[in-house]
Amino acid sequence: MLTQNKKLLAWVEETAALTKPAAIYWCDGSEAEYNRIAEELVEKGTFIKLNEAKRPNSYLARSAASDVARVEDRTFICSENKDAAGPTNNWTDPTEMRAKLKGLFDGSMRGRTMYVVPYSMGPLGSPISHIGVQLTDSPYVAASMRVMTRMGEAVLKQLGDGNFVPCLHSLGAPLEAGQKDVPWPANEVHKYIVHFPDDHSIISYGSGYGGNALLGKKCFSLRIASLMGREQGWLAEHMLILGVESPEGEKTYVAAAFPSACGKTNFSMMVPPPAFDGWKVTTIGDDIAWIKPRPDGTFRAINPEAGFFGVAPGTSLHSNPNAVNMLTRDCVFTNCALTDDGDVWWEGLTDEAPAHLIDWQGQDWTPDCGRKAAHPNARFTVSASACPSFDPIANDPEGVPISAFIFGGSLSKTFPLVYEAFDWQNGVYAAATMGSEATAAAVGQAAIRRDPFAMLPFCGYNMADYWGHWLGIKDKVTSLPRIYRVNWFRKDENGKFVWPGFGENMRVLKWIVDRVRGRAANANECVFGYMPHYEDLNWKGLDFPKDKFLKITQIDDQEAMAEAEAQGEYFSIFGSRLPEAMENERKNLVARIKRPEAAE
Ligand code: GTP
Ligand code: SPV
Ligand code: MN
Repeated sequence: MLTQNKKLLAWVEETAALTKPAAIYWCDGSEAEYNRIAEELVEKGTFIKLNEAKRPNSYLARSAASDVARVEDRTFICSENKDAAGPTNNWTDPTEMRAKLKGLFDGSMRGRTMYVVPYSMGPLGSPISHIGVQLTDSPYVAASMRVMTRMGEAVLKQLGDGNFVPCLHSLGAPLEAGQKDVPWPANEVHKYIVHFPDDHSIISYGSGYGGNALLGKKCFSLRIASLMGREQGWLAEHMLILGVESPEGEKTYVAAAFPSACGKTNFSMMVPPPAFDGWKVTTIGDDIAWIKPRPDGTFRAINPEAGFFGVAPGTSLHSNPNAVNMLTRDCVFTNCALTDDGDVWWEGLTDEAPAHLIDWQGQDWTPDCGRKAAHPNARFTVSASACPSFDPIANDPEGVPISAFIFGGSLSKTFPLVYEAFDWQNGVYAAATMGSEATAAAVGQAAIRRDPFAMLPFCGYNMADYWGHWLGIKDKVTSLPRIYRVNWFRKDENGKFVWPGFGENMRVLKWIVDRVRGRAANANECVFGYMPHYEDLNWKGLDFPKDKFLKITQIDDQEAMAEAEAQGEYFSIFGSRLPEAMENERKNLVARIKRPEAAE
């Protein structure tokens, strides 16, 4: 046995007794083991091996049509009382939920192997890292966990007799004797993604896809970790982390929260345009940041993950060249289309689609067939170190010091390209009231939804208390990051994005770096905060005249007032738990919008 950890051994035994797997397998995390599991997946038909000459050591998986994204309506925070979970989370009494899950897990792994997957979120032994163990009956998940986390034997050694977050996962598709398996087993009827704040445990049933099943990701690193952060005085955030290096070698690190499918991966590996000769953007993480106040008085951040699970559609040499270049080998693609020569394709990869493909559901596909070839939430799984802009400092156990927090949703009007919050409290308010107009995982939601801190589906406790935690944590550091809001998505009268985005976002990022470094001091004050003047951005190499800039930076008073009112309605759902500072900030905004009238 690789471990003497009593809690772990007892839990594995107890789970096996309940779920009744045909075998138990302890993952060592080796490459040989990964290759073996991949081969088994090919035999089962879950993986299709891609053309070795085109895409070495890579696979395509096609999920069940009913298992293509996180299921937010089946995600629960089972705290002792409902108020602790708050109005934005689904809640069920923990005793009731445990009983229900016990029933579902009884025999749920029959005919399958139960993999024991020990993993570290963050570099092994870092003061910012934490350990989890996932039990799963999905070999696809076990293989993915090796890419997405530091996984295997070394983690058990690091764990010793210590504590870990127990993550129990079953596809909910037991195989009775002689029953033939399907390529993507899942439970069509029951899906439960459940978090128990009382013992920090996670139980997931019925889905094998992404954040539902790779429990180190959203379940541990965001929902449970946000709880841990509140208890222990740190932050677990839905943020990318990147470094900006000037030609002189000055390095500035920022963390940015955009809602799901709003451009974190793109931004985190951005290639600056030629006008920024000598400037470099380096990638530390694309989805999650763990941020702790450290003895040097800064917030230090790590990317708890070791891989990227990124949206494939829209990824091209134009939108994200670093991503295209990191996907040349050693990848798993899920729900992408298959080309006739055994490679993958997705919408946006090339301007012209191939004449024939097999789509994500295994059907023949031609450009005129009226269906998407790849599912809109098709994803790639790849090691972070494969990214050309990967910053090796991501493996530094000390983490990187954060100079700015950036928040941005996808909003077609009202909000300008960029602004800096007046101060910390005003910045927390700006992040709390963030909204966005699209995501793959939110089933049946209205077109615009509030997504505070991009954490709406990921906060493990009452959102109002989370805002309070953010307000309070400022006293734990001496060098406080500034807070920004950005919006790449303002549209013109014809419904077209005005801002070119992607690499051109460097122009905005550079202004942010200038601000936190004490340059670009003379900003333009607007009702929301400080904006750059047209002249404050470097426009070299981009034809973007001032009238266009004004179009995406002007704030319409009526729209701003409507926004402030909508925020008031949103705040009211939190009742007395809403921190007073939030409503004060909202009132201050209303006053600033009214001020010009008063002056007339
Ligand atoms: P999750 O992995 O779901 O958390 O999402 P993410 O935030 O990493 O999303 P991703 O980077 O994959 O963004 C996907 C979408 O954002 C694609 O549709 C892109 O085209 C779009 N996108 C990214 N950056 C920009 C930009 O600067 N401008 C515009 N207009 N679209 C962008
Ligand atoms: C997200 O939805 O924010 C993701 C994808 O990053 S998943 O890991 O499936 O949650
Ligand atoms: Mn995400």
